[in-house]
Amino acid sequence: MSDAATVAQGFMDVHGRAPAGVWSAPGRVNLIGEHTDYTEGVVFPFAIDRRAFMAADRNNDDVLRIQSLQRPDEVIEIPIAELAPRSDHHWSSYVAGSAWALRDAGHDVRGFDVVLDCTVPSGSGLSSSAALECATMLVAAGLYGVPVDPFPFALLAQRSENLYVGVPCGSMDQTASMMGKAGSALFYDTQSGDVAHEPFEPGAAGLALLVIDTRAHHALADGEYAKRRQACEEAARQLGVPSLRHIAVDGLDAALASLDADLGRHVRHVVTENARVFASRIALREGDYVELGRLLDASHASLKDDFRVSADELDVAVEAARSAGALGARMTGGGFGGSAIALVAIEGIGELSDAVRRAYAERGFEEPSIWVVEPSDGAHQDS
Ligand code: GLA
Repeated sequence: MSDAATVAQGFMDVHGRAPAGVWSAPGRVNLIGEHTDYTEGVVFPFAIDRRAFMAADRNNDDVLRIQSLQRPDEVIEIPIAELAPRSDHHWSSYVAGSAWALRDAGHDVRGFDVVLDCTVPSGSGLSSSAALECATMLVAAGLYGVPVDPFPFALLAQRSENLYVGVPCGSMDQTASMMGKAGSALFYDTQSGDVAHEPFEPGAAGLALLVIDTRAHHALADGEYAKRRQACEEAARQLGVPSLRHIAVDGLDAALASLDADLGRHVRHVVTENARVFASRIALREGDYVELGRLLDASHASLKDDFRVSADELDVAVEAARSAGALGARMTGGGFGGSAIALVAIEGIGELSDAVRRAYAERGFEEPSIWVVEPSDGAHQDS
């Protein structure tokens, strides 16, 4: 089990001195509101109980020295003065990018040593990238006396992913990682920047939210993500609106009438998904988990058929989960592999997990990893 003590010991082993502190930030599950955060939509993620832990201390070498317990033989050293966007998608860039973003925003962040341990499985669609970015934001701020302001920090972390790492993501993952709270999901309006914690404790209703990590990672994902984003921007341009958030459900038919079928299906997903996020908030407040499950199912159908970001492994997991009694199930995150979630009665967890594993074995898919996920606290200093 990895935690703050493990990574502090890892730092001791490597550097022969204690770290100045340990900081951590979680991955996220998105309950609902997928592929809406880059077109001013609403999203409803929560921080999860898997985190990137970082033990760190300043150094006097003006170098960013990055090591990971997952890669014991690698030492990445980047002179602070040479931090600059590189678009190389290297794992260490999720760390270096945040240091760059803070410096680029005018903060006097200099050299530091960091040893990290990430318990968010990489490639699982659960945002190990945001966990690394947000933990680094706190490390660099903590070591160099930069006051932490969670929402602007989340946007800086997104900026580092966009520019330094070179991934054109929205701001959902970083906001969830930075601002999540145990026992709640984060209702985040990316247009207004409003963030609200909505109590979300399925266990209190005898339910559990399962993560099904398909372990499938499709190589095309990055390019396909960028294409979806471009399609949404092109549709907004043709409709004469700043973003698809300006199209309401009752204006959908008129919008679709003026677009070709391909752009139209993108718009239909985004507009109906925004409506499902608002409806999910109401369902949660009313404790109506049957309705929430229905919305999760509808979200998956829209992502699969209209937005076309699902994958066979996700569809099989979702179908098997539903057949085995889930109230609802959907892919979560960017798609093209990664993870699905399923809302299920606690006593049905075993049956559902068996059903998904059986369906995977029948298809010859790699065995999925399935666990109960708990809404957890966002980024913080551990010690
Ligand atoms: C990825 C991105 C997010 C968001 C989701 C899809 O996780 O990083 O910004 O766009 O995909 O909802």
